[in-house]
Amino acid sequence: MNLLAELRSRLRQALVSFTDSPESFVEMLKPTTDSKFGDFQANCAMPLAKQHKQPPRDLALALIAKLDVADLCDPPEIAGPGFINLRVKTDRLATETALLCRDERLGVTAVSRPRTYIVDFSSPNVAKPMHVGHLRSTVIGHALYRVLKFLGHNVLSDNHVGDWGTQFGMIIYGFKNFRDQAAYDQAPVAELARLYRLVNQLSDYHEQVANLPKLQQQIPVLEQAATAAQRLAAATPADKDAARHARRADQDLVAGRDAITSAEKKITEVQSRPELKALAEAHPQIAELARRETAKLHAGDVENKRLWDEFVPQCLAALETVYQRFGVKFDMTLGESWYNPMLAGIVDELKQKHLAVESAGATCVFIEGNDAPFIVQKADGAYTYATTDLATIRHRIETLHADASLYVVDSRQGEHFQLLFATARKMGYDQAEFRHVSFGTVLGDDRRPFKTRSGDTVGLESLLDEAIQNARKIVDENSGHLSDEERGRVAELVGIGAIIYVDLHHNRDSDYVFSWEKMLATNGDTATYIQYAYARVCGILRKGEVDVAALRLSDAPLLLNSPAERVLALQLNAFSQAVADVAVDYRPNLLTQYLFETANVFARFYDQCTVLKEPDSDIRTSRLLLCDATARVLKQGLELLGIGVTEQM
Ligand code: ARG
Repeated sequence: MNLLAELRSRLRQALVSFTDSPESFVEMLKPTTDSKFGDFQANCAMPLAKQHKQPPRDLALALIAKLDVADLCDPPEIAGPGFINLRVKTDRLATETALLCRDERLGVTAVSRPRTYIVDFSSPNVAKPMHVGHLRSTVIGHALYRVLKFLGHNVLSDNHVGDWGTQFGMIIYGFKNFRDQAAYDQAPVAELARLYRLVNQLSDYHEQVANLPKLQQQIPVLEQAATAAQRLAAATPADKDAARHARRADQDLVAGRDAITSAEKKITEVQSRPELKALAEAHPQIAELARRETAKLHAGDVENKRLWDEFVPQCLAALETVYQRFGVKFDMTLGESWYNPMLAGIVDELKQKHLAVESAGATCVFIEGNDAPFIVQKADGAYTYATTDLATIRHRIETLHADASLYVVDSRQGEHFQLLFATARKMGYDQAEFRHVSFGTVLGDDRRPFKTRSGDTVGLESLLDEAIQNARKIVDENSGHLSDEERGRVAELVGIGAIIYVDLHHNRDSDYVFSWEKMLATNGDTATYIQYAYARVCGILRKGEVDVAALRLSDAPLLLNSPAERVLALQLNAFSQAVADVAVDYRPNLLTQYLFETANVFARFYDQCTVLKEPDSDIRTSRLLLCDATARVLKQGLELLGIGVTEQM
């Protein structure tokens, strides 16, 4: 049973006599961190007492008089200024745990009203190498997908790949002008990625060369402004605005100098390599010409469409190999190109409904409170990312009957989604939930976006290989008893698990610093630690030659006589709450937190309670049941996050 949910529901009933809006008070009932306050504690009597202008302890007393928990808890106790402490009756906890030990779903009941969810995740732009940002989306989206499904919702995963964007113009231009046919025949996607980078670099080079003088002219202006602001700040030390102004001016100057350094670096990179320099000189209009290739593709040019038809399936196949390593499958891969035929209709509808207007030649939707226009058709007639996303919403709601769409995308796209959702609501899609499940950036040691030694955003495949190599060292150290082949298999699980877990266990909104050492620690909040904990429990059952199937079928009771057994039983019963918590605000870290705690609680239990050597056979059986349930909770929990386990490591 989900004890917390049950107790909260009892508290809700009791609160009816005290307030019309009990919900916020209900949430003040929480598991305790210290068992001397019982198993659960409610601190709602204090704020309620304030409302009722009563001493809090009196209110707490009145509240527990109404609180009907006699079947679940020992008589509630009031502590301090009015905390209500609840301790679950040990025999009731034992019966509930005995049920959980036999339940295939480990106490997680399916929701009574399933919703249809679309989880839009991964969604890389194809033909560019997938990088670490797409890793976050893939990992978080996949975990949410699995959790929602396990909770009994109808969930569809959609990989909204960028397969129609300007990168194709660049690749087509590169393919026509710079391709290495032998390389393309051998490894097409790698060659396309090279061509993309090359065209990008050459376009960037010309842009920087054109820009550099302007950047340089800015410096004296910025210097003057900074000096003036500093002088003013020095003259008026009490003036906070002046000080702030001076700091801002300083920052602008630093940013101006940084821009020059970065431009010069890009220019030198090309000029210092004669073959690149020659290419740059031979293709001065490259950016514009690449744009024209995109426009031709969109206008139906036969040759460009043929190339696109050739490139896209190869790029998708390359993505698939990455997904396979993560065990990710999509129910749909409806890329941007798929919506292309619907875009004109979307713009027409927006105009008809007077939602879109002309502005500087472009067609835009303006949303109150936002300065930025939501551009649905550019002045040159091109449709945009925004138009495609509106067509996507129409499809998801009208055809797939989505109740909720989750977009697992980098937080830097926040404004796009804000405008998108507001526009969709204006179009009449105002019943469904739209949610930008946003996430922060992965940083390197220098606290800048994570890059490899070559300075590139990290290619995902090489990252995975590196993870597995590093994991192999850990496995060699810790699992010497396994054969070489087995260790290889374990290293794969450990390496990939570490990458997934490290991403999920951070609050998704935060940036985090990528560190191999931390993410593979065998003793810490890592997948590795939990995977080893799982294997250890399996090892106990194996060593005891326990027939787990028979154990689960037996009607042996749970005996919770020692504190460590009780704590473990409570922890196992909290699994259903942890899974449900993930779905409230789409936060997988609530489940990693729970699993880490479970592994810790189990370690304490195993330290304090004999299991295999326990002479009393009823106690031994009960403890084996706890071991088995712990193993299953750890395995199920990690699997919901997309992380595999193995019984021996
Ligand atoms: N392709 C986009 C990118 O790589 C992400 C797409 C997210 N999904 C969406 N429906 N907009 O930035």
